[in-house]
Amino acid sequence: MTKRVPPGSSSSLSTPQNLWLIWKLVILLSITFLVLTLVRIQLYYDTSPQFSSSSSARVYRRSQLPIWKDDEGFEGNPRIAFLFLVRRDLPLDFLWQSFFENADAANYSIYVHSSEAGLVFDEMSTRSSFFYNRQLSNSIKVGWGESSMIEAERLLLRAALENPANRRFLLLSDSCVPLYNFTYSYHYLMGSSKSFVDSFLDMKEGRYNPKMSPVIPMRKWRKGSQWFALVRSHAKAVAYDDVVFPVFKKLCKRRPPLDASKGKQNLKLQKQHNCIPDEHYVQTLLAMSDLEGELERRTVTYTSWMVSSTNMETRSWHPVTYNYASSNPEQIKRIKDINHVLYETEHRTEWCRSNAVLVPCFLFARKFSRDGAMRLLSQGVSGNFDASALLRTTP
Ligand SMILES: *[C@@H]1O[C@H](CO)[C@@H](O)[C@H](O)[C@H]1NC(C)=O
Ligand SMILES: *[C@@H]1O[C@H](CO)[C@@H](O)[C@H](O)[C@H]1NC(C)=O
Repeated sequence: MTKRVPPGSSSSLSTPQNLWLIWKLVILLSITFLVLTLVRIQLYYDTSPQFSSSSSARVYRRSQLPIWKDDEGFEGNPRIAFLFLVRRDLPLDFLWQSFFENADAANYSIYVHSSEAGLVFDEMSTRSSFFYNRQLSNSIKVGWGESSMIEAERLLLRAALENPANRRFLLLSDSCVPLYNFTYSYHYLMGSSKSFVDSFLDMKEGRYNPKMSPVIPMRKWRKGSQWFALVRSHAKAVAYDDVVFPVFKKLCKRRPPLDASKGKQNLKLQKQHNCIPDEHYVQTLLAMSDLEGELERRTVTYTSWMVSSTNMETRSWHPVTYNYASSNPEQIKRIKDINHVLYETEHRTEWCRSNAVLVPCFLFARKFSRDGAMRLLSQGVSGNFDASALLRTTP
């Protein structure tokens, strides 16, 4: 005989009390799940140290690299952050003095990363008050051609990103000179919603190390000059990147020179990929972030290259330094007249544009000696310069 369960019995699942119990269980489980998810998200953001949740939203896509939003909301004029990456001091400060004298103080900020620990820019160490106390307090020792160079660039970007008014981020060296006055450079950079980053396919030299894959796919590997001008969202992508930089640090290294004391180990060292991080990092990172559509794929800083040796074995390229003689007005005009760049590896001719308008390619140039810069100053290229004033003040 089958035992019928009488209505109202506690063993039945269909009673109102039991239904309520199940509901309670479901609600409890949902809340637990929700809390766990939130904790996970929180933990995720907490493990990326440079991320500030208030400044922007970080969203992951297929490329595994975050998209950074260009946060709005600041008072006053949009500024250009001038980021000076220098070995020691600022030998061309007198020229920048005349450049910034003709600027509106609300339109720019200056940051200096000097490898010289503890160097303070004041009336003793620079002739230009624009640089007083503008050096980063957390500077590091930079090895030229090493990943510490990129890290210094990132330190400059992070410092400059703290001011929400900084909208463009321009990297300069201690031998860079301005070719135009401030107003012209300001409208050129600010008028474009794109970054200016020299970037092209790198087919020949074998600097790409297959071990970088899959984090850095070979098809995203790029080469180009390190002297960039970035918009704010791209500056964040570089400053806060914690995916690509560690791979560069580990696998993109300059091949050391032959060292007799290393004996057999030399063979191994010379086989290693000869990689120069600063000629690849920013352009590769931006390519990996699918941001090439937001770039003018060229630099605004002119460099003249020459082959240093006639011996094919030790042939290497070096930037030309402009001295007093080569900084003559004809030469400067020749640089300023350049309006396109040819990228051979891509069969691409880049007609220089800012906001779709054809413009001269270069706002700045390197490398200039003190004498070369002095001659530029007297030509008045960077601002209204009254040469007679200099004569009057010189005893
Ligand atoms: C700045 O340079 C531009 C282009 O060379 C020129 O047209 C303009 O008059 C200059 N402005 C000042 C204030 O010197
Ligand atoms: C300063 O910025 C304002 C607003 O962007 C602009 O109109 C002005 O021309 C700039 N001044 C100089 C000297 O570049």
